[in-house]
Amino acid sequence: MNNLRHLMSPMDFSLQELDEMFDLAADIEKNMKDYSHMCDGKILATCFYEPSTRTRLSFETAMLRLGGQVIGFSDAGSSSAAKGESVSDTIRVISCFADICAMRHPKEGAPMVAAARSSIPVINAGDGGHQHPTQTLTDLLTIRSLHGSLEGFTIGLCGDLKFGRTVHSLINALCRYDNINFIFISPEELRVPDYITEKLDKLGVSYREVIKLEDVMPELDFLYMTRVQRERFFNEEDYVRLKDFYILDKNKMNMAKDSLNVLHPLPRVNEISVEVDDDKRAAYFKQVQYGLYVRMALILTLLGIKGRNTASDKEDANA
Ligand code: NCD
Repeated sequence: MNNLRHLMSPMDFSLQELDEMFDLAADIEKNMKDYSHMCDGKILATCFYEPSTRTRLSFETAMLRLGGQVIGFSDAGSSSAAKGESVSDTIRVISCFADICAMRHPKEGAPMVAAARSSIPVINAGDGGHQHPTQTLTDLLTIRSLHGSLEGFTIGLCGDLKFGRTVHSLINALCRYDNINFIFISPEELRVPDYITEKLDKLGVSYREVIKLEDVMPELDFLYMTRVQRERFFNEEDYVRLKDFYILDKNKMNMAKDSLNVLHPLPRVNEISVEVDDDKRAAYFKQVQYGLYVRMALILTLLGIKGRNTASDKEDANA
């Protein structure tokens, strides 16, 4: 296939390409029905070697809403990986069946290995503690929609900044935009990895690291909460000690700006108290909705299918 493109990291797309994808997602939000046959006859394979609810279902819904169909597995145990098949072989097989593949894997880099062997577009749907680019596209679209642009705001990222791949991916992507001030809020043990702060230092991006959420609540335009990533801890004792380090509740919300938006990639455990859900500044369920629009836009983009306007323009021209 010519011009085969994958999504391994949001950096695979230029800022202009991302903007076009977000414009397409915004159009999908407004005119969902007009997209319902754009992927007729196309098949998405979801290859999930690690648990997931929203990412996998969001991909599947995206393809179904575009008129396409879905195959796949949601558990490595039910695939030939259980018999020892390599990711390279699996993707070669999947390439014979499907038009596009979304892959989640516990090993960092596995979707890249697949992409190198694939003859269909591969989307990294999360690789270990490394990257989660479609969550990042979701986060960027959510911020753009709520703030009006991707520039000029203070964002606090709170919780497990060490193991949280959504955090790593989002910081990486936001570095490309202007006037963003990062505040990293974590216990000492779960600080953002050095390779990320080194990159920020190199780029001259403004950031600081704090332990107490209360200390920075009044400054924030966005608060990105994350759960402590139990499955990536080396021992249960450390997890139990750190799991409830942060709990966002009404009292903390009272310290924040009226214009704050609270984001969370979900699943939530205890870090946002359910009483916050009714606060108009809680945007995490809206964020899930944006995840669907952006995945629809991504599938269309990677399959090289033009947006609604181009399609109807063509129909007009043929009339
Ligand atoms: C995230 C993930 O899988 O990294 N979930 C998601 O895809 N929305 C966040 C998490 O598991 O904590």
